[in-house]
Amino acid sequence: MDFLAYAGCLGLAGAALLWWYFHVPSSIPRDIPRIPLYVCLLSIWWNLGHPEVYNRWIRQPLEKHGAVVVWFTGHWCILVTHPDYLTDLFRNDEVYPKIGINIRAPEGVLGAFSGDNIINTGHANWGTFTSIMKPGILQRFDLGRIQQKASRLTERLLQAQKESGPRTGILIMPWLARLTQDVMSLCLFGFDLQALDEPRVPYLQLMGEIIPALFNRWFLYFPVLEKVGKFLPSRRRAFQKIDEFDRLLDGIVATTAQAAEKQPKLVSHSLKRALDAGEISYSQYRSNLRMTFMVGHDNTEFLLTSAMWELGRNPMAQDRLRTEVLDATRSNPGLDTLQNLPYLTAVIYEVLRLYPPVAEMINHTSSRATLLGGKIPIQPGTNLGWNAYGVHTNPALWGPDAGVFRPERWGLDLKAIQTHVRRQTMKGHFIAFGLHARKCLGQALGLSEAKVTLSELVQRIRWTVDPGYQLQIGGPMLTFPVGLKVIMEELGSAELQEAAPLDLPFSIMY
Ligand code: HEM
Repeated sequence: MDFLAYAGCLGLAGAALLWWYFHVPSSIPRDIPRIPLYVCLLSIWWNLGHPEVYNRWIRQPLEKHGAVVVWFTGHWCILVTHPDYLTDLFRNDEVYPKIGINIRAPEGVLGAFSGDNIINTGHANWGTFTSIMKPGILQRFDLGRIQQKASRLTERLLQAQKESGPRTGILIMPWLARLTQDVMSLCLFGFDLQALDEPRVPYLQLMGEIIPALFNRWFLYFPVLEKVGKFLPSRRRAFQKIDEFDRLLDGIVATTAQAAEKQPKLVSHSLKRALDAGEISYSQYRSNLRMTFMVGHDNTEFLLTSAMWELGRNPMAQDRLRTEVLDATRSNPGLDTLQNLPYLTAVIYEVLRLYPPVAEMINHTSSRATLLGGKIPIQPGTNLGWNAYGVHTNPALWGPDAGVFRPERWGLDLKAIQTHVRRQTMKGHFIAFGLHARKCLGQALGLSEAKVTLSELVQRIRWTVDPGYQLQIGGPMLTFPVGLKVIMEELGSAELQEAAPLDLPFSIMY
């Protein structure tokens, strides 16, 4: 065979392979719009954050049709935001069971890190994992210990500000990461990690290598590249680091074994007991420990970062919050008071609405042929997912000011806010914590931690966003202001005394 014929055959084989990999299967419904593949490529090329991609290419067709076809993890999938489709997807766990990245892309770093865990597992193992972990996640945690950590955070922030000078913004996210890691470790592992000071175990460097590998978009969109990735030193190192991370978590569980006897519900030790009793495999034990470490802190870290962004550029909202917290703690000291403050609660829900930490998830499949929301024909084995950012910022659901930070939309008193949250959640308009059977188990812990931390911050510090900071909302599936820098000043005692209660309803503050 001469060279040209050989090259021609190779070209044909390559084209056939590409067609086989990228073609839209006939099982994907034809009458909903498809988001072209080049959107994935451009988002990688231009390093676009989730909202940028969404607003530019996805919002319009998705708001019109309620569902679109997108490329994700090597498959064409159906992404939905219409409340009827969402509630059908979330409510019918048997028809649309979860399918984790460990099944969809088992060879990848993300698939290996995630493994078979409580969040992404299908129905069969979910009952087992839930019975083991739920009591420990839902228990009533000691808010006093969370407050001690939040207080340490403010000290460390003020110290960092002093070191960098009064006009230089400091990177806030690494500090919020350390706070939330400390709280997660105390509450779920019974271990004082002391991340805000000198971490007792060398986990930071491991995270620093693992996390960028997990969310590398090339591998996320095209997991087939992992076949080549095996030969790349950075990917190989990521697998090694996951092993090291597992050993580190094993070490924490061993160190805390004695203390854990006094806290029988601790998640880490409930998992260890289940492993010893043969209820779960060693690989499931490790996957669930890793997930406990990650989801036990990262979403709360993102929520707090977004809250600092909004409050840092809205001085009136920050002052309003400060006044509410100071007034309440003066008249009724105690941490339970903070859990019931209306403006604090409304601020947190508004941040979760505009910056849902988990912006998008495509982790369901269809177990049989069905009609999604009674309308869209779905074939067995189709991948499906949801987009919280899209739902939360849809003007048809939230009004023409859907994109505006306006905490008072949730209500003016706690009862009204709670009713509103419940109603919007049931309707499928607010899904920051998911919905129905698979909704977040750590919601109460995340919300309490955010309330305690924000109230501690406003009592000690006034902050503004560094004028040089350019907003960049990060990550392919997450929403938070990447690289946020804030400038902080310590509040003097005179200022704190002066902060008289405001009688105005907070809607007037804008
Ligand atoms: C602001 C903080 C948080 C947000 C926004 C959040 C969000 C979510 C979301 C959207 C889901 C559903 C995922 C899906 O459908 O695939 C979820 C599930 C879950 N979250 Fe959270 N989460 C937060 C904090 C926490 C914390 C602190 C924990 C503590 C361990 C936690 C543990 C879980 C678990 C175990 C599940 C799986 C529930 C199940 O499938 O039964 N989350 N979370």
